[in-house]
Amino acid sequence: ASGLAGCGGAGAGQTAELLRSRVPLPPRFRTPLPIPPVKRPVRSDAHADHYEITQRVREIEILPGYRTPVFGYDGLFPGPTIRSRSGRRTVVTHRNELPVPTVVHLHGGNTPAEHDGYPVDLLYPEGTTAAHQHTGMTGDTRHGSREYVYPLRQPAATLWYHDHRMDFTAPQVWRGLAGFHLVDDDITDALPLPHGERDVPLLICDRAFDEDGSFRYPSLDPALRHPPGVTADFMEGVAGDVILVNGAPWPTMEVDAARYRFRLLNASNARRYRLTLRPNPRGGDGFTQIASDSGLLAAPVRHSHLDIAPAERFEVVVDFSRYPVGTEVVLGNDLGSGPTAEVMRFVVARKAADDSAVPARLAEIEPLPAAAARIRREWTFSRGEVHGHRGWVVNGRPFDPRRMDAHPRLGEVEVWRLFTDLHHPVHIHLSPFQVLGRGGRGPGPFDHGWKDTVDVRPAEYVDVAVRFENHAGPFLMHCHNLEHEDMAMMAAFETR
Ligand code: C2O
Ligand code: CU
Repeated sequence: ASGLAGCGGAGAGQTAELLRSRVPLPPRFRTPLPIPPVKRPVRSDAHADHYEITQRVREIEILPGYRTPVFGYDGLFPGPTIRSRSGRRTVVTHRNELPVPTVVHLHGGNTPAEHDGYPVDLLYPEGTTAAHQHTGMTGDTRHGSREYVYPLRQPAATLWYHDHRMDFTAPQVWRGLAGFHLVDDDITDALPLPHGERDVPLLICDRAFDEDGSFRYPSLDPALRHPPGVTADFMEGVAGDVILVNGAPWPTMEVDAARYRFRLLNASNARRYRLTLRPNPRGGDGFTQIASDSGLLAAPVRHSHLDIAPAERFEVVVDFSRYPVGTEVVLGNDLGSGPTAEVMRFVVARKAADDSAVPARLAEIEPLPAAAARIRREWTFSRGEVHGHRGWVVNGRPFDPRRMDAHPRLGEVEVWRLFTDLHHPVHIHLSPFQVLGRGGRGPGPFDHGWKDTVDVRPAEYVDVAVRFENHAGPFLMHCHNLEHEDMAMMAAFETR
């Protein structure tokens, strides 16, 4: 397997295979941290805010001196940030001008099934024909553009949107189809947390680059191949040797000696990170976690490091006044080595006024009454055979969009036990869950609050309590290692 380094250098807990770039890696900490632009609605009425996004190919400069063609929402990578009020209907019209069909999923959204981005509800570019329909499984197919309607009747949280096309999610996200969708509400606004320029979204992902500056990915023609994006050499998933934050390689950010709120998203296909601050501030525990995937925690939790798996979000407050002015603080990755052991750098530039605080109580979190749950289900994530190839399966079966593996009742609490052979970040659509425990013990240090993705570790099981709300229909649960997902580690359930 050319260009492969196996797991070498990827570090403990890192299971994806490293794909090396064929260009010299750029110097670290030179590019200023970009912030994805916040999208403005094209119109707002009594019922909704309306947005328009065009998915298109654009060449952008990611590595200095190289042009990288991306598949971008509005041609951007990451895509533009959408910012919604909780309960305010948000309608996004997506136009597809890419050479491939796409599917848009709002990750973490409590969204009606027809708008959730079911993997066969394809949006084809205008003028293309059924020649692309290699899977023979079609859903609600459209051409040109379509609306996605998001009620967003849910608490403030850091959500994100990304491609979800069946069998091709990994190569299409790798090429750039991911962005933030933030939800605000009155409860969060009333807290004295850092805000404005001190509320910073950080989309972290890894990529590898080819000689010509294009993204490197182990697939031939993602538009035509089936099984698609990945070769069997990449069973564990694809990891690159360049770390990008908001699309820039190892960027740098000047900060005031003050508190900042960071919305961390691991948008990598398969790489997990153990994020640290180097040096740790005096007194240790540099991260104060205030929110998880699906919103505020009941109370802040302090961490010296953060384990973040693909698709997970952590909102943390970092107080740079704990460092002397002039300190360079590296956001490091203890699971990486060499270049992937570093993510970005902060430079504490100046003293500044700061009236923010992290209150001891953040939000009310209703513990789901799990002990009384009548329905318990078990899901096993493992290797398996997928249409004659090696792949990944749930309960022994590869994903089939026509087969429903469970029929949960809306409003009823269920307990799901997730078993795995290896590390798998398991994501459940529609409604968030609470982690009850790992392997018969209590929840881990990163399991607080409402989650929508949980990293299940090798030979461990995780119990979660979930209550699906509001929308009937087919929804998904899957491994968010995107290569695993494309290799069929996904199951559908139908709420009613
Ligand atoms: Cu973030 Cu089903 O995905
Ligand atoms: Cu997996």
